[in-house]
Amino acid sequence: GFPSTATRRLTADEAGLAEAAALLAAGRLVALPTETVYGLGADATDPAAVAAIYAAKERPSFNPLIAHLPTREAAFAQGLFDEAAQKLAKEFWPGPLTLVVPVAPGGTVCDLARAGLDSVALRVPGHGLARDLLARVGRPVAAPSANRSGRVSPTRADHVLADLDGRIAAVLDGGDCPVGVESSVVACLGGKPRLLRPGGVTRAALAAVLGFSPETGGEAGAKPVGPGLLASHYAPRAGVRLDATRIGPGEAALLFGAFPPDGLAEARAVENLSEGGDPAEAAARLFSALRRLDASGAGVIAVAPVPETGLGEAINDRLRRAAAPR
Ligand code: TXA
Ligand code: MG
Repeated sequence: GFPSTATRRLTADEAGLAEAAALLAAGRLVALPTETVYGLGADATDPAAVAAIYAAKERPSFNPLIAHLPTREAAFAQGLFDEAAQKLAKEFWPGPLTLVVPVAPGGTVCDLARAGLDSVALRVPGHGLARDLLARVGRPVAAPSANRSGRVSPTRADHVLADLDGRIAAVLDGGDCPVGVESSVVACLGGKPRLLRPGGVTRAALAAVLGFSPETGGEAGAKPVGPGLLASHYAPRAGVRLDATRIGPGEAALLFGAFPPDGLAEARAVENLSEGGDPAEAAARLFSALRRLDASGAGVIAVAPVPETGLGEAINDRLRRAAAPR
């Protein structure tokens, strides 16, 4: 069981940062804001601290975690960056991109955080508060999304507490996450880079730097990868019905754009991700909208079609996982 001590909410100021850094350095769990979603942070060099992440999330332990660094230079010390990886790091760090690269000889991310792989997932977040905290800790911080495994990712401190209160030492409250979907995960392990998970950096932006659109999916013969890649993930309690052109009585409705679907008047709850049809605005609202619709008690969340353009690819990826059989 977990000690039932309440989780502390730390403020985004000098005192809060100092306390968060001290807790992390002492091997405790601290949720931290990033530009994508809140991460459940632990010292990535400390296997006991990393084990506590898996326990708090109830996450299967074969899933590798992302190690977060305050600067590109700190990230370069942890991995081996080929030419493509260097280009991507220069262009998108700090920002919502994770690079999976071979572990550097002097790398300090522990085996457990890498799930025993000889590669490591690295990210320099584009959130000032997160980088301040990481700089104070002075070690890579492993941080999966700060939700219970399989649940909707958190984009506010309240979401973190709803899932993890009493299971972690603290949450550093940085308000709403501006991007709202997790980082894009790109593997640079020799050969052409592959997009393992669509996310906050669009395919078009990656292609502009790489000179080609990366193939989607894991490498042949890869070991199991993270829950962000499992079919059923990001799941609200309600069932999720995709490509809804009409809303059934009592269903909750997740809309995109200006045109109301049939049956909307009888919906139990309604959220519009972006009335103006902007995928970036929709991404920022996605997970909190899913949480609110879930809280309405509806048995089904009917989701209107979202175009695949820009961040639409990442949004549709998360919605398909939310709708997958459990
Ligand atoms: O935006 C984000 O990426 C958030 C914030 C907190 O940074 N973090 C996040 O972490 O989404 P997580 O653990 O939920 O997702 C990590 C992803 C998984 O899809 C996992 O499979 C992949 O990164 N990954 C990590 N290490 C890997 C490796 N060595 N090889 C392949 N995939 C890896
Ligand atoms: Mg996650």
